[in-house]
Amino acid sequence: TMQGARQLMKVYVTRRIPQEGLKVLTEAGVCKVSMWDSDEPVPRAELLKGVSGAHGLLCLLSDRIDTEVLDAAGPSLKVISTLSVGFDHIAINEIKKRGVRLGYTPDVLTDATAELTVALLLATARRLPEGVQEVKSGGWSTWKPLWLCGYGLSGSTVGVIGLGRIGLAIARRLKPFGVKRLLYSGRSAKPQAAEVEGEHVPLDTLVTESDFVVVSCSLTSDTQGLCDKAFFSKMKSNAVFINTSRGTVVNQEDLYEALSSGQIAAAGLDVTTPEPLPTDHPLLTLKNCVILPHIGSATYSTRGIMAALSANNLLAGVMGTAMPSELIL
Ligand code: NDP
Ligand code: DGY
Repeated sequence: TMQGARQLMKVYVTRRIPQEGLKVLTEAGVCKVSMWDSDEPVPRAELLKGVSGAHGLLCLLSDRIDTEVLDAAGPSLKVISTLSVGFDHIAINEIKKRGVRLGYTPDVLTDATAELTVALLLATARRLPEGVQEVKSGGWSTWKPLWLCGYGLSGSTVGVIGLGRIGLAIARRLKPFGVKRLLYSGRSAKPQAAEVEGEHVPLDTLVTESDFVVVSCSLTSDTQGLCDKAFFSKMKSNAVFINTSRGTVVNQEDLYEALSSGQIAAAGLDVTTPEPLPTDHPLLTLKNCVILPHIGSATYSTRGIMAALSANNLLAGVMGTAMPSELIL
């Protein structure tokens, strides 16, 4: 048949992905899918072998996509589709040079990630994990006026570093808690900040004046290590630091120092360096540090939608048609 005669495109998927994504790939009938069918990351050697001769690669943020992977794929590769909005794991210049297209998943995970950021902020500021632990361990003896007190959002100043899609969605959710001032920093002032009465300020002002510092920028050479000793030393001693962007935006040794010395009140992290964070990491010994395993976008629905979008990006890339979400390089 005509169908049978048509050459199937070869795509490689680096992990077991939600059904919604697999369904898109199989029902299209245009590609031969090979998948690393596991919840654990594909070993590097397997990835290099699997991608060889592929027209499309569907990857995760835990896969480092560099020259070695691109060379292993060879000239057949037309598209890389990542199951994430962040693309700091991909050698952008290399794929641009080779004319490979890039698909990603903006917008569809904005609400889930903003919601998780608010949950982490409240959990950290109001010391929820500590409280839960005290109940379980018998540390709860009676109601005590001075026990397990934390910080509230009402009347506070919140600083958002990176008022992008997720940063704005975080600001929208925090405002109704009675936030008095909403500051943000970034390369440019955003017209959409008006909606949250956001003030575009220099980073120094944000760090110095905020009661809550929330990091929601992308990881770039400018933001790598942005939150270091100098940064934490400018924060108020009652301030709470939250990071849901990427781990390497933070210097973790400096954060440990700031938290253990009382330089800042508490920190909540959804992202760390490395991931997973080793269980003997010093940050895990601190009561005023709440660490989550990179679950910002982890709702069933969002992950299903991300999988379908990344599959549709992949298909469009191998077919040479318009992608639903292409990152223009
Ligand atoms: P956007 O591109 O919409 O937002 C990124 C923002 O970062 C931009 O507004 C940009 O603002 C800002 N930015 C870049 N450089 C700087 C800088 N030097 N200082 C301050 N701000 C800066 O992306 P999203 O909001 O969709 O996603 C943001 C990031 O969140 C992703 O890149 C990813 O790393 C992370 N993420 C984490 C998740 C999790 O599970 N924890 C889930 C989803 C995303 P400007 O251009 O004005 O500088
Ligand atoms: C992303 O998409 O970049 C997140 O880190 C995971 O959803």
